[in-house]
Amino acid sequence: MQLIPSILVTGGAGYIGSHTAVSLAKAGFRVVLLDNYSNSDVKAVHGVRSLINADVPFYEVDCRDKDALIDVFRTEQEMGHEIKGVIHFAALKSVGESVENPSLYEDNNIVGTERLLEVMREFDVENLVFSSSCTVYGEPEVVPVDENAPFLEAESPYGFTKQACEKLIVDHLKPNPEFNAVILRYFNPIGAHPSATIGESPNGVPNNLIPYLCQSVAGIRGALQVFGTDYPTPDGSCIRDYLHVMDLAEAHVSALEYLFKDKLRGKDTGWRAYNLGTGKGASVLEVIEAFEKVTGRSVPYSIAERREGDVVAIWANASRAKDELGWEAKRSLEEALNDSWKWQKKRPDSQ
Ligand code: NAD
Ligand code: WQD
Repeated sequence: MQLIPSILVTGGAGYIGSHTAVSLAKAGFRVVLLDNYSNSDVKAVHGVRSLINADVPFYEVDCRDKDALIDVFRTEQEMGHEIKGVIHFAALKSVGESVENPSLYEDNNIVGTERLLEVMREFDVENLVFSSSCTVYGEPEVVPVDENAPFLEAESPYGFTKQACEKLIVDHLKPNPEFNAVILRYFNPIGAHPSATIGESPNGVPNNLIPYLCQSVAGIRGALQVFGTDYPTPDGSCIRDYLHVMDLAEAHVSALEYLFKDKLRGKDTGWRAYNLGTGKGASVLEVIEAFEKVTGRSVPYSIAERREGDVVAIWANASRAKDELGWEAKRSLEEALNDSWKWQKKRPDSQ
């Protein structure tokens, strides 16, 4: 019997995948990374290897390439490391790009997930953790939002792919009763590994708040634009639930352990969705203030127009993850911002 389960991490060179790989290895899992490097590069893989202090296997494969996926599962099997579970991060995630090129997003994210499910079935791999997003809720009517909130019409083709993949997974379960899936709906991950060995490396001008803010403070970008201070929130700026990427990484360990304890087996559905957030909202202006306080650096910013499509206020009710997975976010907003800044300072483009 295999004592250390091998876990395939698709999108393992990406931001959340690389941090999760480190947490999985620390928890005793054997990690196998897969990525097509469409939004990442080999540096993250080196970072993971140095943090784990082991030669983690890496496959440069596109999830839409079924033959290549089969090769990965077969190669690992032939080496005596049968894959026992998959964490599926691999996806394109830029909301703006998805509006410009919806078919790319449908192809990459939905077809990639379909092929992965097919290959998992061929190799009898029964455990899946899937990266979903709070974007599936759209603009929620009630906050904090819990997992029973309805999926509203997707605000972007990217959001649609997350809703569609969740449905694909649920449909896949019907003819495959042995299959078990945990769907994790992330709120806004930020921060980096505290060693600053790995972190978030967006290509080009960042769309997301924290990478832009850090690059602005580092002098790589112009002043941060605060997209709207006339919203119906206490200070007028939008509210989000920012959680440390290491907390998020650890949630994946809890989810896998839950699956391996057969918690879902025999239940009606075989799947369960969990919100992952801190349960606390912070406004854009509060984030700026917290960053300045913890780093001692001032953030150059100006007030700008609202950004089209922005949700006004959303934060998580994450009590289901606490009650059932035994996970809750432990790190503060300040700690996450400080780790983002430490990572920014270490990046070559921050010189
Ligand atoms: P990321 O872009 O850093 O990582 C995704 C990785 O997947 C990249 O390394 C990319 O090269 C790879 N990839 C993309 N398409 C692929 C394909 N077809 N085959 C193989 N590899 C492929 O993004 P991230 O922030 O780490 O996000 C990971 C997952 O979490 C994604 O599914 C994303 O939609 C989801 N998510 C992210 C956030 C966020 O704010 N970062 C929030 C909610 C959900
Ligand atoms: C946060 C807040 C902006 C940039 C996105 C995706 C969502 C999910 C998480 C994957 C908002 C404001 C931002 C800037 C600003 N990802 N902002 N100036 O919009 O919550 O969600 O990431 O699933 O699908 O849409 O994150 O970081 O872009 O914005 O004022 O330059 O910061 O208006 O209020 P968002 P974000």
